[in-house]
Amino acid sequence: MKILVTGGLGFIGSHTVVELQNEGFEVVIIDNLSNSSEDVLDGIEAITGKKPIFEKMDLRDKPLVQDFFKRHNDIEGVIHFAASKAVGESVEKPLLYYENNLGVLVYLLQELTKMDKANFIFSSSCTVYGQADELPITEDAPVKPAESPYGNTKQVGEEIIQDTCKVSPKLAAIALRYFNPIGAHPSVEIGELPIGVPQNLVPFITQTGVGLREQLSVFGDDYPTEDGTCIRDYIHVVDVAKAHVVALQRLLEGKNKSNYEVFNLGTGKGSSVLEVIHSFERVSGDKLNYQIVGRRAGDVVQAYADTKKANLVLGWKAASTLDESIKSAWDWERKIRN
Ligand code: UD1
Repeated sequence: MKILVTGGLGFIGSHTVVELQNEGFEVVIIDNLSNSSEDVLDGIEAITGKKPIFEKMDLRDKPLVQDFFKRHNDIEGVIHFAASKAVGESVEKPLLYYENNLGVLVYLLQELTKMDKANFIFSSSCTVYGQADELPITEDAPVKPAESPYGNTKQVGEEIIQDTCKVSPKLAAIALRYFNPIGAHPSVEIGELPIGVPQNLVPFITQTGVGLREQLSVFGDDYPTEDGTCIRDYIHVVDVAKAHVVALQRLLEGKNKSNYEVFNLGTGKGSSVLEVIHSFERVSGDKLNYQIVGRRAGDVVQAYADTKKANLVLGWKAASTLDESIKSAWDWERKIRN
């Protein structure tokens, strides 16, 4: 069965391609290499023994998208990762984000709605919940006004898909709301490759650990949490990847209850910034150089998933512990710096 994975050379995309190939799917990747490298194909091949089909393409080019689906009229499912994801950059370049994250989504849906049957998995984010009133966060929690154009693209993206599903019964879609994906494949053949200074906590920690950054700044220790630092739900990227395969299989087997469904992808366990640092120190055996600084604008205090819906309905559960996830991130960081 042929599956299109857009952004399949990126962090979560590449791990998902591995899991798809392990399950016997034939994968076609589209990626514009804006935040990834063609070398990732070798990593995927090293793990799975098979190189996926790869087409370097910018999906903002609508005629190319149309042409792709004409050439590949046997695509049975699309997992759509290709998007821009830097919150700060989205504030500086909102139109780039709206074009990349929403324009492209529209082009893909236009092609999918021409098909007799189409299955679509969308990368959404827990950012749609903002600071939720109740924890853990269920899928029924209200969507809060977005803090950034990036966050807005995830909210509006979900709405675009939902509106399209209402009038397109042959289209079935699942939006997966990721909490904080971290780590790398245990083979250390693929992992996260942040360009420039990482904005996210775990790559910043591992880069500090290898000496690429001098010191981690912890953004605030005066939050109303046990140790004063913010709480997030850090989930191993391989667990996230496996959830995509399970979600796709649900659609392919017609087990979905409606043609638009939403699931949280998290562990259900919240960890503070200091707990993540301590986990790093445990698995690396090194002390991390960090200092407490002021709060970062736009940070929510606490976000962790209620995973019941994904556990019961998808039959999927995150398997890795925080230490296992951090250890894989650390192994990967040391490998790529050697
Ligand atoms: C961020 C984005 C979010 C996006 C997600 C995944 C913001 C405000 N939010 O979420 O929209 O969906 O990434 O890409 O950018 N921290 C430090 N020092 C650092 C980096 C982070 O203390 O150098 C802290 C943060 O304050 C936060 C936690 O670590 O409490 C996690 O931060 P991060 O990895 O950026 O993820 P989110 O803020 O959850």
